[in-house]
Amino acid sequence: KKKMILDLDTGVDDALALAYALADPDCDLIGIIGSYGNVYVEQGVQNSLDLLALLGADDVPVYLGAQHALHVDGFKVLPVSAQIHGDNGVANLQLPTAKRGPEKQSGIDFLIEAAHKYKDQLLFVPTGPLTNLAAALKKDPTIADLIGHVTLMGGALTIPGNVSPAAEANIHQDPEAANEVFHTALPLTMVGLDVTTRTLLTKHETACWRALNTKAGTVYADLVNYYIEAYKTTNPHLHGCALHDPLAVGVAIEPALVEKIRLNLKVETTAPFEGRTIGDEARLNETNISTEVAVNVDKKAFLDKFMNRLTPLFAA
Ligand code: BDR
Ligand code: CA
Repeated sequence: KKKMILDLDTGVDDALALAYALADPDCDLIGIIGSYGNVYVEQGVQNSLDLLALLGADDVPVYLGAQHALHVDGFKVLPVSAQIHGDNGVANLQLPTAKRGPEKQSGIDFLIEAAHKYKDQLLFVPTGPLTNLAAALKKDPTIADLIGHVTLMGGALTIPGNVSPAAEANIHQDPEAANEVFHTALPLTMVGLDVTTRTLLTKHETACWRALNTKAGTVYADLVNYYIEAYKTTNPHLHGCALHDPLAVGVAIEPALVEKIRLNLKVETTAPFEGRTIGDEARLNETNISTEVAVNVDKKAFLDKFMNRLTPLFAA
């Protein structure tokens, strides 16, 4: 069985990714690394711990990752993140506090250790900025040849960004880190807005969770209804909320859910297109291409799988 590590900036769709990874019988969730992004890293880690406890999985360890981007001194939550995920990342709900705290080992060291231990069995799924992965690669470049696959949520190749016309939020947070990651030999799949804004969830699905009459079903219905309402103001053209982060987990487990193109990517790190993910003209003719970009998705297959996994988890 494959081993999965998630790297989350735990907001609402990260919370869905966490649930999906836990519920999938085809992989073992061996740990979660926290990142800054939708919230400050400490808050994101607390959210992950609380959600794991809610889902009866407090045996999964949670590690602290970077507090801010690689070459930047500090970090401030973007107003749009607070609007979409709530100030605390989990729709301003007061989740019961987990008994377990974060691990002492740093998230970066945990990732390096796991890469050496599990090698090609390891699936790494970052659904926030790529700072932790870039830091781990800097500390131990050999992990680029060890990790089985990286499936990241971030970027946009065929459509505009969501925080600027050019940039998607996760890449925008740390364009340098993302650019460094795209220039390694890591086998990598980019699951960006191209596909995640085609997999939408509506209040129809959250009503099914609420009808389960369980604590987890109610919390997740409340979380996602908040996110759906926020999407109505920020993305009025979409009918529902985008399942960004859970789609990356889904694709990590079942790559055939998406159509991909192989392309060496770069990230623009300077204005006016800072944060844009685009083909790297300098490496267009290389024969060795380790990166693929998802450009189409079988949304029905994904949504069916998503609901078939999550509903029994919330019912338990
Ligand atoms: C990404 O940004 C975050 O707000 C979401 O959690 C997702 O990972 C979408 O652009
Ligand atoms: Ca995220």
